[in-house]
Amino acid sequence: MCRIFGGVIEKGNIAPILLIGLKRLEYGGYDSAGIATIFEKKLFLKKDKGKIDEIHQRLKLDDLPGNIGIAHTRWATHGAPSKANAHPILDCKGTIAVVHNGIIDNFFALKKELEQTGHNFISKTDTEVVAHLVEENYMQTHDFIKSCIMSIKRLEGSYAIAIISSLDDEKIFVAKKDSPLLLGIGKNENFVASDAVAFIDRTKEIIALNDNEGAIITKSSYLIYDFNTDNYIKRKSKVYDWNFDIASKAGYDHFMLKEIMEQPISISWTSNIQKPYLDLISEYMDKSNKVFLVASGTSYNSCIAGSYYYSNLANLATYPSIASEFIDQFGNSIDINTSILFVSQSGETMDVIQAVEYARMKASTILAITNIAYSTLTRLARAYILQQSGPEIGVAATKTYTSQLMVHLMLAFNLGKKRGKLSQDEIDKLKQEIETIPKIMATTLDRQKDNVKKIAKMISNKQHVFFIGKGVNYATALEGRLKLLEISYIPSTSLNVTKKDIDAINEEKNIAVVAIIAPDANRKILIDYVQHLKDIIILGSEEDNELKEISDYLISLPNVNILFTPLIYVLPLQLLAYYTATYKDIDPDKPRNLAKSVTVS
Ligand code: AGP
Ligand code: GLU
Repeated sequence: MCRIFGGVIEKGNIAPILLIGLKRLEYGGYDSAGIATIFEKKLFLKKDKGKIDEIHQRLKLDDLPGNIGIAHTRWATHGAPSKANAHPILDCKGTIAVVHNGIIDNFFALKKELEQTGHNFISKTDTEVVAHLVEENYMQTHDFIKSCIMSIKRLEGSYAIAIISSLDDEKIFVAKKDSPLLLGIGKNENFVASDAVAFIDRTKEIIALNDNEGAIITKSSYLIYDFNTDNYIKRKSKVYDWNFDIASKAGYDHFMLKEIMEQPISISWTSNIQKPYLDLISEYMDKSNKVFLVASGTSYNSCIAGSYYYSNLANLATYPSIASEFIDQFGNSIDINTSILFVSQSGETMDVIQAVEYARMKASTILAITNIAYSTLTRLARAYILQQSGPEIGVAATKTYTSQLMVHLMLAFNLGKKRGKLSQDEIDKLKQEIETIPKIMATTLDRQKDNVKKIAKMISNKQHVFFIGKGVNYATALEGRLKLLEISYIPSTSLNVTKKDIDAINEEKNIAVVAIIAPDANRKILIDYVQHLKDIIILGSEEDNELKEISDYLISLPNVNILFTPLIYVLPLQLLAYYTATYKDIDPDKPRNLAKSVTVS
């Protein structure tokens, strides 16, 4: 989830403007960065791996000539952070420069095709195919814009792309599908960026591009191109009166809320993870005698759900273990035939890394799911999957949790198929259902906002909150409880509940109970348990009429395949924690005494 920025100004150098904007976009990715400009029909490029400030100190990123240029801050999806993989990415001749946010799903096939026609690939990115495609098309058409349009039409996947060329040195071509892209229309200068914060000090006149649209910008004009109809279309700009702070949070008061609301997008990024990565991890998990799932906090909660997925979809037993306990709890039982899937958003959590070091000594196979490409965990793992959530700034893990659930699900599908437990038909059906998840998430967040806000007001005065759930949604109870405790400081307990627990809870005063009652085999018993409790908040299917009768507060959720319920049911619980914190005047982005992940002992 990188960020891109480009601009053409009337005169002077664009590079200092691009550098200022890039710094403001750094929240979107910070493993490498770069700027390309054109001056006197020549392309100039500076890029490297690392944080923007470090690169700037070494290379002086603002010291590039020319009034037109593009810039990028990267969050690697394909190819480790390195100078070669940093964007802008060039074609063979160094006349075309591309920046890209997204994933080109068909890059393997395109790369093969382009290599056969003699193109030489320097990076390991998926993005590089775009530069060579434009180069190839230019050889046929001698028209930069036509070549860009032809090239974009070959791409499958997600992208916000900006392209410049010394062969046509006054234009920036951009295109968008499933990644954000905005035009900034100024006076004798125009911009394009993933987020308006990049250019908001130069212009507040903004045009949002839709999916399957492109645009050509020069210093004094802009043209919008519709890839569906192959026509140019007219659209007027709108004035946005945002300050920088609001803009970097995309209009939300806090990063936590922004990241909660981002989940329809981040989950679709995760569901784009390519098969070779899933195959590799599945291979190791399948051939091991024992498989452990080791993590802390929220990542551990994803492993609880994961263990249900691996068993239900692939008949594979996996053992979730809290990282700090792993050595003591299972250390003596692991060996060369054991695989351990470590899950860590940051890839740096001390307990996780210590368990990794121990498992390495025992020659076990280290596998990983993480959000950070250059983390310690990726360096130590035999094979890893990048969960593609984009950077998470809020201390509370939200979008990274749902992405981890999705990775477990996709691995379980893959294993199910590999182990002959799922037919291709079943896989196809599940895949189709996955495609509907982003939309269901968006609708759920939208519909539940106000309802959950009311419940949060009630919760904010309680002394204790219990989260109860069973089956795969025991994970949801664990995660709902962790979020509330972390962000609102209200003592909370999660229970894989029994009748005895209910009898004990019933005696308590000034408490609330959140019951997760999904439409599965546990539904009936949970209804029996909770129907006499006071202040009961129930999450369940909108088609379950009985829940309406027994709940004091109802969170009615779309009816989805039970395997997908953890992805949907956790959303209102994240919102609950968020709004409860705001009612208690706590800054949800900076809860007391809490770091995002614990990297020291
Ligand atoms: C969750 O909201 C917290 N930030 C924390 O519990 C976190 O999940 C835990 O520290 C693990 O972090 P990791 O995924 O980066 O390893
Ligand atoms: N896929 C591109 C890369 O790895 C862009 C990454 C992104 O937008 O996250 O370089």
